[in-house]
Amino acid sequence: MVRDSFYTPTVLADKLINFAIKKDFNSVADFCVGDGELLRAAKLRWPQIKCTGSDISEDAILKTRQEHPDWELCQMDFLNPDLRLGASILNKQQRYDLILLNPPFSCIGGTIYTVEFEKELFQASKAMKFLVTALQYLEPNGALYAILPTSIAYSQKDKKLWGMLEKKHNLSILEEPKTQYFKGCAPNVILVSVNDFSQTSQFKNITRISLDFQQLAVFRGKISMDQVRPNGGSKYLVHSTNVRNNKIVNLSLKINKPLSEVSGPAILLPRVGKPNPTKICTITKEETYVISDCILAIKTPSIKEARILYRYFIDNWELIENMYKGTGARYITIDKINQFLNLDISDTYNYQRVKAI
Ligand SMILES: C[S@@+](CC[C@H](N)C(=O)[O-])C[C@H]1O[C@@H](n2cnc3c(N)ncnc32)[C@H](O)[C@@H]1O
Repeated sequence: MVRDSFYTPTVLADKLINFAIKKDFNSVADFCVGDGELLRAAKLRWPQIKCTGSDISEDAILKTRQEHPDWELCQMDFLNPDLRLGASILNKQQRYDLILLNPPFSCIGGTIYTVEFEKELFQASKAMKFLVTALQYLEPNGALYAILPTSIAYSQKDKKLWGMLEKKHNLSILEEPKTQYFKGCAPNVILVSVNDFSQTSQFKNITRISLDFQQLAVFRGKISMDQVRPNGGSKYLVHSTNVRNNKIVNLSLKINKPLSEVSGPAILLPRVGKPNPTKICTITKEETYVISDCILAIKTPSIKEARILYRYFIDNWELIENMYKGTGARYITIDKINQFLNLDISDTYNYQRVKAI
């Protein structure tokens, strides 16, 4: 099964549908229908609803058609405008009351797509392109509900379109589920509504950096201190106790652990423990360390950006400190940092892949 085909668990499909409080939807469409979980959830809620779906996978369409012979289904690449023009489910100015989506997220590969929205061209992620393209087929009084990767709400890539959809279509984050529903690969998700003017976004106050950085990548150390053994390696190990007064000090142990190696330019900051601004430091491109799993590195394209970022973290320490959660040992997550830095989650995945090769 490819990464983009992680189907929605029934419990999450039901959760999404429960946000649609309007009573009288007559038609519903899912343009990446997979095995039809979202349409099934809609049919359970509104038994009279007419179900329509498309998917790029012929196999998915064949199987779903066998299960649901009364649904109108077609095989199509929904992002291809020529195919959409010729598709039976989209011709005759077809519009739907309700659109449900769990589009492909593509967590690897930072491909940027171009999308037209209200006669303007925008850059967007694949999930955002799906969302905006689907909106063209929504009845003016209809509503769209979707499961999207969390990064869509804060990545640089989708920022402009996200803002426009918020303004013009009341794009609202309905929930950020705590459970990791798509195990093994997919990033965290948010549930959103578009064009449902009865909703209010639940997450308006996401803390974000006010600087515009490009090409940052967040990396977490992969070796826990209780696994550390001298193994004749050539790189110094940096643990949180090795950062004092914003400098790396008292290095003593050299080990070999390529998956946990980080080279500058970067800033290092503690992942766990009492948040403390003196535990942040920069490293230059000449420096390579193995970092413990109590340390996070934010890689920057140049030392200049590392220094600006370092200064920003120190000067805005209260913001950073508040991102450390937990009642016992406090910790910060990669997701939180990505969100703070307006990063797309794929940047992190890419960096980890490159390190792993
Ligand atoms: C994450 S799954 C979701 C499936 C289903 N909507 C659900 O919620 O269970 C994404 C689906 O998108 C389909 N897909 C990927 N790229 C597509 C494209 N360009 N056009 C149409 N469907 C696509 C995949 O085959 C897959 O079935």
